[in-house]
Order: sequence, then C-alpha cells, then structure tokens
Amino acid sequence: MARRRVPRAVFDYLDGGAEGEVTLRENCRAFEDLTFRPRHAVALAECDLRTRALGLDLSLPVMLAPVGYSRLMHPGGEVAAARAAGRAGTAYILSTVSGHKLEHVQAASAGPVLYQLYLMGGRAAAEAAIERARVAGFAGLVVTIDTAVAGIRERDHRNGMKELVGPDVLPKVPFVPEILRHPGWLLGFLRDGGIQPLPNVVIPGQGPMPLLDVAAALAASTVTWEDLEWIRAAWRGPIVVKGVLTAEDARRAVDEGAAAISVSNHGGRQLDGVQASVRALPEVVAAVGTRVEVWMDGGIRRGADVVKALCLGARAVLCGRAYAYGLAAAGEAGVDRTLEILRADLDRTLRLLGCPSVAALDRSYLNVPKSWQ
Ligand SMILES: Cc1cc2nc3c(=O)[nH]c(=O)nc-3n(C[C@H](O)[C@H](O)[C@H](O)COP(=O)(O)O)c2cc1C
Repeated sequence: MARRRVPRAVFDYLDGGAEGEVTLRENCRAFEDLTFRPRHAVALAECDLRTRALGLDLSLPVMLAPVGYSRLMHPGGEVAAARAAGRAGTAYILSTVSGHKLEHVQAASAGPVLYQLYLMGGRAAAEAAIERARVAGFAGLVVTIDTAVAGIRERDHRNGMKELVGPDVLPKVPFVPEILRHPGWLLGFLRDGGIQPLPNVVIPGQGPMPLLDVAAALAASTVTWEDLEWIRAAWRGPIVVKGVLTAEDARRAVDEGAAAISVSNHGGRQLDGVQASVRALPEVVAAVGTRVEVWMDGGIRRGADVVKALCLGARAVLCGRAYAYGLAAAGEAGVDRTLEILRADLDRTLRLLGCPSVAALDRSYLNVPKSWQ
C-alpha cells in the first residue's frame, strides 16, 4: 500500500538501503537461518506479551525506531507514530531528523517517548535539544553511533531525492510527473507546508537547520566515546547506545555508562556489508547481557522475527520500516494496524511454540546454527 500511496522517491527513501543493499537484504534473510523448537500439546489460557525495557512497562516487546523525516511519508509524521505507539502501550523513539517539534511529539503520546540524538549542528545545538527533551519529560536518550557520515543510498541519488527536498524541485523533470501521479500525497505535503527546517536542531544565532544541510552536518559532527561523558552529564537520565555490532563496542558502551544497547546496523542504511543485526546479537548478549539490557533492530517484519530475537537474549526490539510502511500507507491508522499485526503475530507464535510469555523465551525454543555459537 505504501508503494502505491507515495511517490517513488519517497518510497525508496523509506525502503532502500546503502550501496548494494546487501546488509538490508541480509537483515531479513538471516532470520531464516533460525528455526523454532516448539513444545506441542500445551494449552495456554493467555500469553503474556508484556516486557520492561529501560524501566518502562511495555505491553509488547516492540518499540518504534527513530525514522528520520517521517513527515515526508505522511503529514502526521512523528506525531502520528508516537500517538499510535502510546495507544498500543509501547514506546516511540523520536529521531533528531524530525519534522515536528519534540514537545508536540511527547505531548501527543500516552506512552513513553525517547529522543534519538545526532550531534549535527554541533554541541550547543545538541545540548539545547537534550535540555528541551529533559524538560518535556522524555523517558530516555538514544545515542546513535553508526553514522560517522551518512551512508550512500543509491536509490535516493537516482531519484533526485536531494533536489526533492531542495528549493529547485520544479525544474527536475524526471520525478515531477511521478509526484503528480500521487495527488493525494502531494496535496497533503503542500498543505503541510512542504519541506521545513528541523525544529529540534536549533543552531544558536542561526535558527533551525535546513533539511538539505543534514548530510554535511552529520559528517561534521561524528559522535565519539568521549562525547558520551558530556551527553550523560547534560541528560542526567538513562542512555541507550544504538548501532553496536561487536562485543568490543558493546563493552565500551557499557563502560561509558550505557543503560541499554541496541544491536543495529541502521537497517542496512549505513555501512553496507556488515552482518545482519540478528546475527550479531548472540556476540553482544554474551559480552554484556548480564550487565545491561540488549535490544536489537533490523529486519523485523513479523512477530516470529521478534520471538527469534528474544530467544537469543534481546529484551525488546525496535522496528523501523515495518511501521513506516504503515505510516506512508495510511498515516496514524497505518501505524495502529502495523502494531496490531505484530501483536497478533506474537500471540499466535507463542501459542504455537507452547510458550506462556515473552519473558519465558530462551534458546531452548530455537535451533541456532553451529556457526552462530
Ligand atoms: C527512512 C528511515 C530513516 C531512519 N532514520 C534514522 C534516524 O534518523 N536515526 C537513527 O538512529 N536511525 C534511523 N533509521 C534506522 C532505524 O532507527 C532502525 O535502525 C532501522 O530502520 C531498523 O531496521 P528495519 O527498518 O529493518 O526495522 C532510519 C531508518 C529508516 C528506514
């Protein structure tokens, strides 16, 4: 539905990955290497899907990942996604690259909202956003460490995505007819004011950062382990490090004070050729799983994927594209539907496994290939 509803340039921005998209494909495919070991002939009155992540009570072990500029997919964007997450009893993580003010996103949701931090715009801009997020009552800070520069997403280049978000959109003939074929999307986009600067990246003396500056700003403001110290001091709350793929980085993140880690390759949008997130999960769980919560994201498309990640030791997962497709297809109702599908999948998979709760999932429910041990 999303593919039909939005212009190709927008769909490809959402759907695509870096370079040859090897990691993007592998994120989903790797789940196929794991097979279930069910316990049959077990009657379960109820399956308990609840979990606790970062001290937050969640009605299901799936949170919504930060997805930059969701407002391009639907005017409701980040506000719609946060509201749907809250309604489903789970958490929403707001990207720094948000089209909506962080205060509005927090106020819209009945559930917890976390803030994902990039340092674009420099330390002063980041400190201002951290302070606003703290005052607004955000439940955690997610620091993404895999974006030293923006990955090259070749589909975006082919589609002229840079021009689409720039001021010179009209003369770019190849994709203008494509956009005109989606009048519903176009009307919503124009009514929403078109592309606007980023309201949560406010550079002192300059104001909100224009969307076009994002790639250069990311490259100019790589987050380092040393930065975690002042980020922690400014935030004064729990920090999640997102983008860990090795035991070494996991240990370093914990030593620097992370309360949780998200094993992630950014949905295959950054360094192409790294292994699937779920494949990296056992290594990270073995390294730090007794000290902090381990989350993962990348390739979650069905409830069965969530169950497999939990069997390998993840406390919860984040989904990105799965809900972004819903948002592009039908706005807030589409995100509601995504979460309903995942919840129904989870319940059914647990019943078919003969497992009473997500908390009871462990490796005994999985065949894990020898090479993964
Ligand atoms: C369109 C899009 C934009 C994204 N923007 C961000 C972002 O701004 N910050 C971030 O940390 N991760 C971002 N991500 C990565 C997601 O948070 C998450 O790691 C990834 O989508 C998980 O893979 P999945 O899409 O297979 O679920 C983005 C992902 C997509 C698809």
